[in-house]
Amino acid sequence: MTSIIWKKEYDVGVREIDLQHRYFANLINRLEEELTENIDTEYQNSLIDELNAYARFHFISEENLMRKANYPDLELHRKHHQQLISNLANMELELDMNASSDNILGIIDFLVKWFLNHTTIEDQHFADYLDNN
Ligand SMILES: [Fe+2]
Ligand SMILES: [Fe+2]
Repeated sequence: MTSIIWKKEYDVGVREIDLQHRYFANLINRLEEELTENIDTEYQNSLIDELNAYARFHFISEENLMRKANYPDLELHRKHHQQLISNLANMELELDMNASSDNILGIIDFLVKWFLNHTTIEDQHFADYLDNN
């Protein structure tokens, strides 16, 4: 089980971002639950679409905060967001070809790691910048 159980240390200290991160984590948890029990590929793709749409919303929201604060690492951060969006598109293709539970677990594992790593390192970096500027 790779589900994300929210821990205080995942909060970056910016309320708007933290609220969105919690929702983002819930969507990943739901994907884990539902992808493994539902073999309907259309439904699986549609769940990934939902995560994709929320990820886009969250990334724009975060990037707008960065823009407003003249965050110097905005462009690099934006690239990392875009990489995740293209990874999500690849995941849908992968599931179309192979919806085995190994493949699904691999996708979830990647998402959990990406999310926790990005949040606690890169998003935290921005929150620290906000604190100090
Ligand atoms: Fe974020
Ligand atoms: Fe981010």
